[in-house]
Amino acid sequence: MPAKVKRVKSKSKNKLETRNKQKPAHKKLKIALAGFGTVGRSVVKLLCHEANDSFELTHIFNRNVVRKKVDWVPSSVRWTENISDLLSSDADIFVELVGGIEPAGEWIQKALGAGKSVVTANKLLIAHSGPELLDLAREKGTRIEFGASVAGGIPAIIGIQEGLAGDRLYKIAGVLNGTCNFILTKMEATGASFETALKEAQELGFAEANPRDDVEGFDARAKLVILTQAGLRARVRSEQIPCWPISSVDAVDFAYARELNCTIRQISLAKKDTEDGLSIHGFVRPALVPVSSLVAHVEGSKNLVMVTGQYAGQMVFSGFGAGGDPTAVAVISDLYSIARSGGALSGNALPAVEMPKHVSGEFTAPYYLRFVVKDRPGIIAAVATVLARYGIGIDAVLQRPGYPHSALPFIMTLETCTSAMLGRALQEINRLDFHVEPVLCMPILLD
Ligand SMILES: NC(=O)c1ccc[n+]([C@@H]2O[C@H](COP(=O)([O-])OP(=O)(O)OC[C@H]3O[C@@H](n4cnc5c(N)ncnc54)[C@H](OP(=O)(O)O)[C@@H]3O)[C@@H](O)[C@H]2O)c1
Repeated sequence: MPAKVKRVKSKSKNKLETRNKQKPAHKKLKIALAGFGTVGRSVVKLLCHEANDSFELTHIFNRNVVRKKVDWVPSSVRWTENISDLLSSDADIFVELVGGIEPAGEWIQKALGAGKSVVTANKLLIAHSGPELLDLAREKGTRIEFGASVAGGIPAIIGIQEGLAGDRLYKIAGVLNGTCNFILTKMEATGASFETALKEAQELGFAEANPRDDVEGFDARAKLVILTQAGLRARVRSEQIPCWPISSVDAVDFAYARELNCTIRQISLAKKDTEDGLSIHGFVRPALVPVSSLVAHVEGSKNLVMVTGQYAGQMVFSGFGAGGDPTAVAVISDLYSIARSGGALSGNALPAVEMPKHVSGEFTAPYYLRFVVKDRPGIIAAVATVLARYGIGIDAVLQRPGYPHSALPFIMTLETCTSAMLGRALQEINRLDFHVEPVLCMPILLD
């Protein structure tokens, strides 16, 4: 008996071996990567350290490449300072992790033109010329994927484009910049000034030495433009979306916000309106949000993307929106997406991206105004007179004790009004002679 059993086992093993021999060899996709910086290094680490049957790294390009070489990359990988080595190679996929609009844009066009698929994390470039690059990829029968360009490791783009393709999305809102969120949550938790919180963000590596793109809202705006295209299927340009800096938010605003059961976050929002043709209303700005809301619970450098659809309602994606490793996960996921499709075209089945008739930062909401004034009688009456002339109602006036009369902060909350009407009223109000600094205006976002 034992001999019989043994014979059966060895027979089936032989069958298996024969079957495996007959299976066609699995072709690994060749990857040429440009940019060995924060994200590039993490992508190479994942490609080299995580066993994978799908990809083979062939090239790494960077300027002054000798400085970049590390001993944990296999010796078969070619390090180069010449981008043509990648573009003229037999690599299947060009991974662009250099950043900036040019020369990255030109390299990507050449890679697509040469029939390669492309994966990039470059939000500036995709916000600037994503649709044109997608068209070129379609024309050439290749793919361009940019899941890492918004919210780092959070699968927001793929979730919206694939997971929610069956819905009609009409609103996208979220916390899209980790640096601003770190600064604002620090101010909220410790009562620190904007400058102190920014300095700490810089010391911990959460903010650049030049934080302008983050603080002024430009980084979040590029991501909002990409999400608007992916989710609302509308083509907007960055310049059409107004941004307000978070640097004018003061510790006192968090104290007042708390009295209103709110806190402050940098909110990126785009809304689609189809009543009179397609129009998009969008902005990036600090705003009051209820302490019980999901956005109020986004901590430190994390991100959150919230989308609302006609049929499935609200969906939320959240997690680490930046950093080498989380962003590398999104890049590798895009590589797998291309590998699964065999490089075949994608995106054609989605509703077309339309050019809206109208794009504006116009937004109807209740508003928060914070004044810092040289105190004297009649200030509230003067402000109320201007607001009344524009038909804007005052909801409440709050003044905390303990501030000097030479620079007294107080706030007004306004009933729902349009941002255009309020903007005009504020121009007049800011001309009144008792201000120590311009009035800070933030919408109160209740849903
Ligand atoms: N970091 C994140 O958390 C994150 C998150 C989402 C998306 N992204 C996007 O990912 C991309 C890469 O970001 P990163 O943070 O990895 O940037 P990074 O650390 O500055 O890396 C960029 C790399 O490209 C090299 N490089 C820059 N310009 C070059 C040029 N003209 N020629 C050759 N090499 C050049 C740099 O070399 P040097 O060392 O000489 O400067 C550096 O090694 C950007 O598009 C960014 O927006 C980043």
